[in-house]
Amino acid sequence: MSQGIGSIGILGAGRVGTAVARAALKAGYEVRIATSRPVEDIALIVEIITPGAVAVTAAEAAQADIVVLALPLHNYRTLDAGALADRVVVDAMNYWEPTDGAMPELGDGRGTSEAVQDFLEASRVVKTLNHIGYHELEADGRPA
Ligand SMILES: NC(=O)c1ccc[n+]([C@@H]2O[C@H](COP(=O)([O-])OP(=O)(O)OC[C@H]3O[C@@H](n4cnc5c(N)ncnc54)[C@H](OP(=O)(O)O)[C@@H]3O)[C@@H](O)[C@H]2O)c1
Repeated sequence: MSQGIGSIGILGAGRVGTAVARAALKAGYEVRIATSRPVEDIALIVEIITPGAVAVTAAEAAQADIVVLALPLHNYRTLDAGALADRVVVDAMNYWEPTDGAMPELGDGRGTSEAVQDFLEASRVVKTLNHIGYHELEADGRPA
């Protein structure tokens, strides 16, 4: 565990979110995981797929020491920028046209994390984990 960081909030409980959650739990972090749904809708699946993680609301996940964005990129404007202010936010999202549709704000070679940083203007956005397949996050994980 890195000094000073005890908790990780993850927004998204799909392929990437749950893989990051399991890797973080293995490394000793407290993990809070949220989707756009009410806590009771995801509590059981979180318990089964990421045992040890706690299902929370997005607002509660945003209070963690570090917050990981593992939701479809086209939903980034549904994030609560105020709740994520002053947080380090790890952006694992990619633009995938079949899923995300047209996103005109990404024109002219603009990076996806630039758009996310503009929206989360008071957060510190760090682009990483987006280049790793979800199935490799755990298989290739190493101790610190
Ligand atoms: N799959 C990969 O190997 C991979 C690798 C690197 C990067 N990525 C990127 O990582 C992101 C997630 O990919 P994925 O494959 O994990 O997607 P996924 O399996 O479809 O999971 C997406 C998750 O995000 C949740 N979600 C949607 N809107 C949300 C919101 N506003 N707040 C919180 N949670 C929300 C969804 O739940 P609800 O709809 O129920 O809220 C779902 O749990 C994408 O941008 C993708 O491009 C994927």
